[in-house]
Amino acid sequence: MALNLKTLETAAKKGIETAQNLEELDKVFKVFLGRKGQLNQVLRAIPKLAKQKRAKTGKEANALKNSLERMFAKQKIVLQAVRGENQKAGDEWIDVTAPGKKIEIGHLHPITLVQRKMQEIFQSMGFEIASGPEIETEWYNFDALNIPKDHPARDMWDTFWIKTTNNKKPITNNRLLLRTHTSPVQIRYMETHKPPLRIIAPGRAFRYEATDARHGFNFYQLEGLMVGNNVTAANFKAILQEFFRRFFGKPVTIRLRPSYFPFTEPSFEVDMAYDGGWIEIMGAGMVHPNVLKAVNIDPQKWQGFAFGMGIERLAMMKYKINDIRLFYSGDLRFLQQF
Ligand code: DAH
Repeated sequence: MALNLKTLETAAKKGIETAQNLEELDKVFKVFLGRKGQLNQVLRAIPKLAKQKRAKTGKEANALKNSLERMFAKQKIVLQAVRGENQKAGDEWIDVTAPGKKIEIGHLHPITLVQRKMQEIFQSMGFEIASGPEIETEWYNFDALNIPKDHPARDMWDTFWIKTTNNKKPITNNRLLLRTHTSPVQIRYMETHKPPLRIIAPGRAFRYEATDARHGFNFYQLEGLMVGNNVTAANFKAILQEFFRRFFGKPVTIRLRPSYFPFTEPSFEVDMAYDGGWIEIMGAGMVHPNVLKAVNIDPQKWQGFAFGMGIERLAMMKYKINDIRLFYSGDLRFLQQF
């Protein structure tokens, strides 16, 4: 009988382990643990055993019954889980013949597109691209551009100053700010390059002012600078006229209107004929002798023009956009039109 139990145990364990699914496991259960199963037959035969063997065999048979039942229960859980997984996989069935989903490819922002177009035109006219930092020192943003401290012209640029003290102790002697225009790049470039020179400097500028349909506290400008032996305002006008003709794809009427900037003399505002009126598109002028002196260029020998225009403004005119805030809204209905 002892041998019988051992054989039974081995066979039952093997059956449990090799059952591939719940149905197979159920069959194995019936064979060994079912009402007419092998283990019950053993238990039923116990009373017929010799007295001294009865107790021992009974104990062993019951222990085996318990351990096999536990094994069945465990294996049932495993096989149930496998079935669940298979069903899930079935639900996620993929139709390989269905047409694929289109992958959306992003594209450049309208400001980037316009900036690149502007660069391309100026580059074809011999202008190099220069750049400078968005966090500037007071010197480059103002003083070197002939705007000393306490000069009323500083009011033309509402400035975001950067905290340069810590517990009232100065971190740096240079006061720092977010550049209010791209004009400081003129200075930085002329410090390291000798004339004749021809550059544009596209980039971000910041103003401490309220936002509305035409103003943002952060926006893009494109600065221009040309210095040579006999560069005149007539050259400026010709170059600008050609630039706008290529930018808008048709001849454009512009006019120069007297204005004031500390870093140019004379200064002008450039207006463009638009929608039956005039629209102001940039500030410009002949580089002020003090600016040239600040970078050690002899104003008796060299002269030139400079200008600065808003990139959003041009984009708005080119694409007939009526609110500058749309550029920064992240609204796909707007962005997908470009
Ligand atoms: N920096 C000026 C502004 O942001 C624009 C400007 C005017 C730039 C005259 C120039 C210039 O280079 O000559 O308002």
